[in-house]
Amino acid sequence: MKQLPITRETEEQLFFHNYARLPIAVSHGEGVWLVGDDGTRYLDMLSGIGVNALGYGDKRLLAAISDQAAKLIHASNLFMMQPQFELAAKLLELSGLSKVFFANSGTEAIEAAIKMARKWAAQSGDQHKKEVLSLSNCFHGRTYGALSLTAKAKYSDGFEPLLPETGMITFNDITDLEAKVSAKTAAVFIEVVQGEGGIHRISQPFIERLKELRQQYNFLIVADEIQAGCGRTGTFFSYTPLNADPDLVCLAKPLGGGLPLSAVIGSEKVADVLSYGNHGTTFGGNPVACAAGIAMINAIDEDRLMERAAATGSYIHDKLKQLAAKYPQILEIRQYGLMIGMTVDKEAKYYVEKALLKRVIVNATSVNIIRLLPPLNITTEEAQLCIDTLDEIFSEETAG
Ligand SMILES: Cc1ncc(COP(=O)(O)O)c(C=O)c1O
Repeated sequence: MKQLPITRETEEQLFFHNYARLPIAVSHGEGVWLVGDDGTRYLDMLSGIGVNALGYGDKRLLAAISDQAAKLIHASNLFMMQPQFELAAKLLELSGLSKVFFANSGTEAIEAAIKMARKWAAQSGDQHKKEVLSLSNCFHGRTYGALSLTAKAKYSDGFEPLLPETGMITFNDITDLEAKVSAKTAAVFIEVVQGEGGIHRISQPFIERLKELRQQYNFLIVADEIQAGCGRTGTFFSYTPLNADPDLVCLAKPLGGGLPLSAVIGSEKVADVLSYGNHGTTFGGNPVACAAGIAMINAIDEDRLMERAAATGSYIHDKLKQLAAKYPQILEIRQYGLMIGMTVDKEAKYYVEKALLKRVIVNATSVNIIRLLPPLNITTEEAQLCIDTLDEIFSEETAG
């Protein structure tokens, strides 16, 4: 068969036009380096949009995947499978919660959590308790339920009507929180650290008031840990330092070590909410993905990657602060472990393209925010290469 040219033209012909792919074809990866088909090496400060927590080619992860693939790739949830059980037990131990449901992607975890919240509310006996709220600037995914909770119109324009009885609370605005929640509220979805929204963390007073209002009105707090979870911010869950005490937690991205896997973890309060056939998915909790997830969590522990994420994150923060002092193009820096956002003076896309020419992959989010989500095991020397590249870009711009 003739080999297809991997070019933008072929892409245009083959695919729906829903992805703005970078103009490089990638072949493989080594640690923090992503290697193009032509052999060019790129320093990957995005790690597959926050997925490759161990970088590329971790031997323990590869062994877990190939061992499990040789045994059983798929059987479905008609059967019990050891890797699912082991990963579920680990997630319960890490969260202190009661029950797990596995799906395949972030948005599916959110869908499941919305359904659980609605069903839980229906069981409360209050037929008006249906409303599902989220916070402005949030991102929860692109399937209909998740899309209905996602803030930016650019994701939902043209897809209306969305899910009824959803609404939005202004991020970190306690007055608006008090105005919006009521006895009709079934759940409030939060990203403790907003990712696509540009790396913004919910304030402690907002969390405290949210918990008080939960007490008053009896609703669920759902923590979307899809981007911030699994150790990226320096603790396994980003809500831990703020003691958000969620009733449901959604995980995805790094959970399957690069294979599609997501989870909803629930507290005792929602432990019995689902009954047989209420919810499910053919592939959810795939044994190879679960084996990868176990290896990934073990590696985080073995290599002390949460501590490293916190330390390397603050190293990058300090260095970016130094750049900000030199270059007026940098307006603000926000950093929680290895979740880093830098607000710049123009469309961040401009800097993403400049960095790519210098073989460094960074990401643009929320128009003018450069986002870094490197692997948790990135070294300070590797991180410094990214800082040096940004330094070069800003200084060339100043000179030019
Ligand atoms: C916080 C958050 N929630 C949900 C999602 C959706 O996940 P997925 O793309 O796996 O459906 C994302 C993806 O970026 C995310 O960052």
